Amino acid sequence: MTQEPGAHGATPSDRMARIIDAALARDGGWLPFDRFMALALYAPGAGYYAHGSRQFGHMPASGSDFVTAPELTPLFGRALAVQVAEALAQTGTGEVWEFGAGSGALAAQLLETLGERVARYTIVDLSGSLRERQRQTLAAWGGKVRWAGELPDRFDGVVVGNEVLDAMPVKLLVRRSGRWHERGVVRTPGGALAWEDRSTALRPPVEIESDHDYLTEIHPQARAWTATLAERLARGAVFLLDYGFPEAEYYHPQRHMGTVMCHQGHLADDNPLVAVGGKDITAHVDFTGIALAGQDAGLHVLGYTSQARFLLNCGLPDLMAQADAAQRAMAARLIHEHEMGELFKVIGFAAAGSTPWDAVGFRAGDRSHAL
Ligand SMILES: C[S@@+](CC[C@H](N)C(=O)[O-])C[C@H]1O[C@@H](n2cnc3c(N)ncnc32)[C@H](O)[C@@H]1O
Repeated sequence: MTQEPGAHGATPSDRMARIIDAALARDGGWLPFDRFMALALYAPGAGYYAHGSRQFGHMPASGSDFVTAPELTPLFGRALAVQVAEALAQTGTGEVWEFGAGSGALAAQLLETLGERVARYTIVDLSGSLRERQRQTLAAWGGKVRWAGELPDRFDGVVVGNEVLDAMPVKLLVRRSGRWHERGVVRTPGGALAWEDRSTALRPPVEIESDHDYLTEIHPQARAWTATLAERLARGAVFLLDYGFPEAEYYHPQRHMGTVMCHQGHLADDNPLVAVGGKDITAHVDFTGIALAGQDAGLHVLGYTSQARFLLNCGLPDLMAQADAAQRAMAARLIHEHEMGELFKVIGFAAAGSTPWDAVGFRAGDRSHAL
């Protein structure tokens, strides 16, 4: 990220340091990690998603930090459109809602493919600077696209979210010598940010076998977000795509270092306390937690599977056969086991007020039983 001084000579990292110090002062000198992550990503004018830097793209040369499926190839959106089209028809709505629309690439792919089947496309994004970029990407669709600051109390539609859950703040839990602690952030007397663990009654959703030292995350925000969506979606469906696992894998005794990762310039590191606001911070998704949060609030699980299986079910091979070699190579990365095919998963829900159906994306290889 370039550190452009603002009108008052402060760079985003100066602003971020001040924001964190103000929050530390308010919270008695210790910030639980989820509050720290929320500020690092979304604090107005200073958070990673709240200033104008370029996050998404193919290569570091474009100034981007990571690539997502819709940035890699439009074939991603065209395949997902097969599932969205079916869900629109099944649930009798013409509304699509996209959460965390990034550059607007997926919205453009869905709008182009679905044409008249979409009467209105609503984007909900926490990031004001991204909203501006989305407006530019989607100018051709004019009045069909709108932006909502928050969810209405009741709505109908097919909801999509690609890599949104992984951008939601998580709590860090640490087991040391058999005792659980919540990990938070402090400022040391020398001025650096550092970890400090405090005793806690919080626990992972499943018992972690044996008693070795263990670092992991819990996802109260992603669960609360899913529950709110479930309560407010009257008719329609939800499709969420992201990297993660079911809880038995997430909380496997061998995964003792957690899953929090940072991304900058297409490099990954595991230290969120440096370059705060200048890089993305993510955690993998606990898909069992998402399924339970949705189900408890009334959603019906339509299916859960790998991204590869989902895209194959949606007809990606036919789309690849019609594409040129360069596009085919990009699309292969979406389904290749060692790239995005297996680590990324898709979960689908029908709204409480809609009848579940045999959704195309989960027709072969549904793994709901593993949740
Ligand atoms: C990793 S980016 C993914 C962007 C895009 N979907 C893509 O695949 O290229 C995460 C996005 O989620 C947004 N986001 C995170 N939490 C959100 C929430 N609770 N509601 C709406 N958007 C959210 C961020 O602002 C950002 O645009």
